[in-house]
Amino acid sequence: MKYTSKPRTYRVKSFGCQMNVYDGERMAELLAAQGITPVPEGEDADLVVLNTCHIREKATEKVYSDIGRLVKAGEEAGRKPMIAVAGCVAQAEGEEIMARAPAVGMVVGPQAYHRLPEMLDRAVKGQRSTDTDMPEDAKFAALPKRRKVAPTAFLTVQEGCDKFCTYCVVPYTRGAEISRPFNDLVEEAAKLVEAGAREITLLGQNVNAWSGEDAKGRAIGLDGLIRELAKLPDLARLRYTTSHPNDVTDGLIAAHGEVDKLMPYLHLPVQSGSDRVLKAMNRSHTAESYLKLLERFREARPDIALSGDFIVGFPGETDAEFEETLSLVDAVGYAQAFSFKYSARPGTPAASMDGHVAKEVMDERLQRLQAALNRDQLAFNQASVGKTCEVLVERKGKLAGQWLGKSPWLQSVFFEGDAAIGDIVRVELAEAGPNSLAGRVLERVSA
Ligand code: SAH
Ligand code: SF4
Ligand code: F3S
Repeated sequence: MKYTSKPRTYRVKSFGCQMNVYDGERMAELLAAQGITPVPEGEDADLVVLNTCHIREKATEKVYSDIGRLVKAGEEAGRKPMIAVAGCVAQAEGEEIMARAPAVGMVVGPQAYHRLPEMLDRAVKGQRSTDTDMPEDAKFAALPKRRKVAPTAFLTVQEGCDKFCTYCVVPYTRGAEISRPFNDLVEEAAKLVEAGAREITLLGQNVNAWSGEDAKGRAIGLDGLIRELAKLPDLARLRYTTSHPNDVTDGLIAAHGEVDKLMPYLHLPVQSGSDRVLKAMNRSHTAESYLKLLERFREARPDIALSGDFIVGFPGETDAEFEETLSLVDAVGYAQAFSFKYSARPGTPAASMDGHVAKEVMDERLQRLQAALNRDQLAFNQASVGKTCEVLVERKGKLAGQWLGKSPWLQSVFFEGDAAIGDIVRVELAEAGPNSLAGRVLERVSA
């Protein structure tokens, strides 16, 4: 690996969660500030940043196959792309990547990417570098200002995780829980709105663990932050993800009934419906306490759409315990959910537990769970048919004259009629599928 000149073009490819999408955007802004320009998807770039995810084995394998593909494409075109590996695989396996993949020039962790420009300078001199520090000095302060953004924007308010669920790598790849200061967040949110955002999704691995002090020095939680951001006049919608059941406060539940701009949607992962499995996962909630929480959210906001995450085949999970997960799904009636087969991650406590579940059993359980979740998702969407709802227009659809946006309940809505990106329009919903709704514009609510 030897480069002699600074890259002229870059591409950032993000995998994994929305925090990675946010980090990817910030890295792109950082590179743009260095005078490097982005290339569209599919085109060759001088510098490729792979912003990786370590959550499951498959996600990690992708990194190495992507590196291989980039090297091969480069050889065929007679060029050598500069490759940087960022994100959670960089944090967890930095040294290994450097040893296994000589084509990689830079390895940079999620807390260190503000130092990319210096690493780039070294790369140009032919020096490879790894930076997986978790420095005290704030990364955010070192990043350039926000640039023009889409109508929906992400804002990371909290990073890291102290929960140590026994299957999960996040506490190791992202470090301890930290909350970004209130003033910085109010400022960044205002900049995002100025730059075109109409909806902001507050992000954190445990976003509802966010805590801070408001402008008057009073201690506040996520609900206090939401109430403050809702005052931004041109901001139409607020969302937050992902929450942990143990950090739900009365104030957060109340906010759903009181803050109009806070959308009626809650992503609250449960992972399993079996108390024995939940205990082995170190989730510190029970199926019943989780269901009680959801009931309280529904009291505050009866139309709230519920979403969750599930893992099937955690070590030792029996058929009967899996059935308890299905019962929980039936009891909740999720509007949307994400479900995964357990993946043993190196260094996590669950990886060395007894009773690893056979792949075929996991496959079968995942299929049954997903059938139940899809059934509920379709039912949720079908219940909207014949009604009208407000849609934030995000982009043009594939067909001529078609637009795509999101309902307050985070459903994708395809529609025709008079609209522009960033508008909020009232749409009459005519059809529902498992993943989207279709309709037509009745009126423009706000532009
Ligand atoms: N902080 C969030 C997101 C964690 S990662 C939360 O607590 O929910 C997103 C989801 O990936 C988790 O909710 C879990 O369902 C899944 N996941 C995490 N580790 C996993 C593993 N080792 N195998 C399979 N799924 C996993
Ligand atoms: Fe992982 Fe659990 Fe933390 Fe979520 S709460 S990031 S699943 S350790
Ligand atoms: Fe993946 Fe890291 Fe997010 S492991 S899910 S990119 S926090």
